[in-house]
Amino acid sequence: MNIEQLVRATRTCRRFQQHEPIAIDTLRWLVELARLGGSARNLQPLKYLLVSDPELNAAIFPHLGWAGYLPEWPGPAAEERPAAYVICLLDTRLAQEAECDLGIATQNLLLGATSRGLAGCRIGSFSGKLHGLLDLAAHLKILLVIALGKPLEEVHLEELPPDGSIRYWHDAAGVHHVPKRPLADLIVTTGKG
Ligand SMILES: Cc1cc2nc3c(=O)[nH]c(=O)nc-3n(C[C@H](O)[C@H](O)[C@H](O)COP(=O)(O)O)c2cc1C
Repeated sequence: MNIEQLVRATRTCRRFQQHEPIAIDTLRWLVELARLGGSARNLQPLKYLLVSDPELNAAIFPHLGWAGYLPEWPGPAAEERPAAYVICLLDTRLAQEAECDLGIATQNLLLGATSRGLAGCRIGSFSGKLHGLLDLAAHLKILLVIALGKPLEEVHLEELPPDGSIRYWHDAAGVHHVPKRPLADLIVTTGKG
C-alpha cells in the first residue's frame, strides 16, 4: 500500500474477530509507532496500558460508548468485540493536556494496525469508572481508549449526501458508510484573493 492507500484504508472499525488474539508484542510495536510521533515542547506525556486478556477485555467493554450516530445499534455483539485495547493515558506529572500529541500518536498507531491487517476504534466516550477498574495510579488520566482487532466490518468512504449530513450510517447489508467533506470545502483562501 502506498501512503494514500494506507490512510484511506485506516478507517474506524467497530466489529472484530473477537477470538483472534493480538499479541502483546504487536501492541508494543503499535505503541512504538505512537512513541515516534511529534509532541508539543517534546514533553512526551502520553503513556499506554496494553490489554489483550479476554477477561480484562470483557470487564472494559461495558464502560465504552459506541457509535453515537447509530442509537439503534447497541455496539458490537458478543463474539464481535475487540480482541485488545490500548488505553491512552496522560501523565499529569509531565503535562496537563496533550490533545494534539494524542491525535498524532493514535493516528500513527492506527496506520500501523492497518498495515498489519488489524483495525481499531478510538473511543472518547468512556465511563469515569474505568480508571478505578484498571487500578491506575492517580497521576495517570485516561484520555482515550483504542479498541483493536481483526476487522469484521466493511467501511466505505462517501461524498456528503445532498443534505450535507456528516453522520455515518449502516446500510441494510451492514456496510458502514462514512461521509467526508469534499477537498474543495476544506481549502480556504485569504480573503485577499
Ligand atoms: C477523538 C475521537 C474520539 C472518538 N470517540 C468515539 C467513541 O467514543 N465511540 C465511537 O464509536 N467512535 C468514536 N470515534 C470514531 C469516530 O466516530 C470516527 O473517527 C468517525 O466516524 C470517522 O470515521 P473514520 O475514523 O473512519 O474516518 C472517535 C474518533 C476520534 C478521533
